Amino acid sequence: MSYDDAIEALSNDALKLVKDNSVIGLGSGRAATTLVKSLSKLIKIKNYNIKGVPTSLQIKQIAEKTGIPLIEADQVEYIDIVFDGADQIDSEKFVIKGGGGALLRENILFSLAKKVVVMADKSKFVKNFTRAVPVEVHPLARNSVSLAIQKLDGKASLRTLDRGYPFFTENGNIILDCNFGTIKNPKVLTQKIRLIPGVMESGIFLRKPDIIYRANTGGKFEIF
Ligand code: A5P
Repeated sequence: MSYDDAIEALSNDALKLVKDNSVIGLGSGRAATTLVKSLSKLIKIKNYNIKGVPTSLQIKQIAEKTGIPLIEADQVEYIDIVFDGADQIDSEKFVIKGGGGALLRENILFSLAKKVVVMADKSKFVKNFTRAVPVEVHPLARNSVSLAIQKLDGKASLRTLDRGYPFFTENGNIILDCNFGTIKNPKVLTQKIRLIPGVMESGIFLRKPDIIYRANTGGKFEIF
C-alpha cells in the first residue's frame, strides 16, 4: 500500500471530526492534499456548508479544483479545525513545519484553531528533532539572521531552487534552513529564534497539535 493510500485511510478517519457549518483550515503539502480531496468528497456527499481557509497557493489550487468554498484567514475570527502535515514530530509532540515554505500562514492558522490535527507517516516521528529548522526571514536580514543563528550554535543555509536561485515564500521572504544537530529543548530554541530581528516565523511551532495521526505500513494508523 502506498503513502497516499495510508494517508487517505487516516484522512477519512480524521474527517469524522468535521461538522456541518464549520470553518476548516487547509494545511499544505502531500498529507494536506490527500485530506482536502477527501474533504471535498465528504462535503458533496453530506451537502455540508464548509468554508476552507488555505495556507498556501498550493493547497488553494487543490481546493479550487475540488470545489471547496474558500475564505481567507483575515476574514475569520476562528477556525474550527486545521488539518495539516508536518516535517518532524518529537516525543513531546512539538512539530517542525515549513518544508514547503508555508510556515508563516500555517502558524497563523494554528493560532486561530480550536483544534489542530496533524497527519504524518512514521518516518517523521523522532525522539528529538534532527532535521534543519526552516526559518522565514525578511530578505534584508539574511546575513544578520544567519549570524544570530550561528550564535545559537546553528548553521543557516539559504533555501534555493534547483538552479540555485533563492526560494521566495508567498510573503516575499527567504527561508534559512537552520541545522542545530539534535534539538533537546525545542521550546526555548524557537523562542530565541523568534526574537531575532528580521525573523518572520520559526518552523518549530509553540502550539502543539491536539490530535496526531501516524501512518504506519499497510494502510494502518495510530492516533496520539
Ligand atoms: C509546508 O510548508 C509544510 O509545513 C508541510 O505541511 C510539511 O512539509 C509536510 O508536508 P508533506 O505532507 O508533504 O510531507
